[in-house]
Amino acid sequence: MSVSIKTSEEIRKMRIAGRLTSEVLDYITPFVQPGVTTNELDKLCHDLIVDVQQAIPAPLHYAPGGHTPYPKSICTSINHQVCHGIPSDKVLKNGDIVNLDITVIKDGFHGDSSRMFYVGEPSIQARRLCEVTYQSLWRGIRVVKRGAYLGDIGHAIQSFVEPLGYSVVREFCGHGIGQRFHEEPQVLHYGRPRTGMKLETGMTFTIEPMINVGKAAIKQLGDGWTVVTKDHSLSAQYEHTILVTDSGFEVLTLSDGCPPPPLV
Ligand code: MF3
Ligand code: CO
Ligand code: CO
Repeated sequence: MSVSIKTSEEIRKMRIAGRLTSEVLDYITPFVQPGVTTNELDKLCHDLIVDVQQAIPAPLHYAPGGHTPYPKSICTSINHQVCHGIPSDKVLKNGDIVNLDITVIKDGFHGDSSRMFYVGEPSIQARRLCEVTYQSLWRGIRVVKRGAYLGDIGHAIQSFVEPLGYSVVREFCGHGIGQRFHEEPQVLHYGRPRTGMKLETGMTFTIEPMINVGKAAIKQLGDGWTVVTKDHSLSAQYEHTILVTDSGFEVLTLSDGCPPPPLV
């Protein structure tokens, strides 16, 4: 399978799916407080997506090759969890940081976005990690335009975070997205300028850097999904779904409650 170029009608549907995805993150924000369980956050998001948005939570029963079906509607990755954390009866406590990753299917098209949330007051280290990770996502987004290369995106992220002492997770990457959750191409969060695939107008893909305070190495837990840092250092991630345009990019996963793009 090669990279799909979306038609204007498909882009119209991707904009809708993207906005709904971001609106789930807006909706859940006030509920992320000390004392809430990740199962409660999952149920709130599930019910909004299904009952109000009349859409489908893509993670539920998602089972890409070799994986056991994902059992919940959102991903909740806490502290040293890198990604794909499974909601449970675990209670969030003051000082935790948690990534909520939402993927919504509307009218056959996917939107995919995640943000970090502070549970109560974060440590200085945790806040700084989240800020740097968000800035790194936007460093990657801002190089997107027709004629740029995938390697330009990875390089923009890696060359920003590594001099600050952080590391980039290698095993997971951004991905093409559309009628399928994970399409080609793979969007690595490290790399060299002017390498890899050339970007064309109408491509849609995610950028979703996973950045660690400690070493880059990760391991997967026995539940078949949850990924954690090997050294148990804190990890953060932000994700947007992006459209390549002639002049640059369009972020498809925007809504009123989105954190503003960083100034630099
Ligand atoms: N939303 C994740 C991504 O950004 C994928 C989650 S797969 C799941 O690609 F099954 F864990 F939900
Ligand atoms: Co994604
Ligand atoms: Co995602």
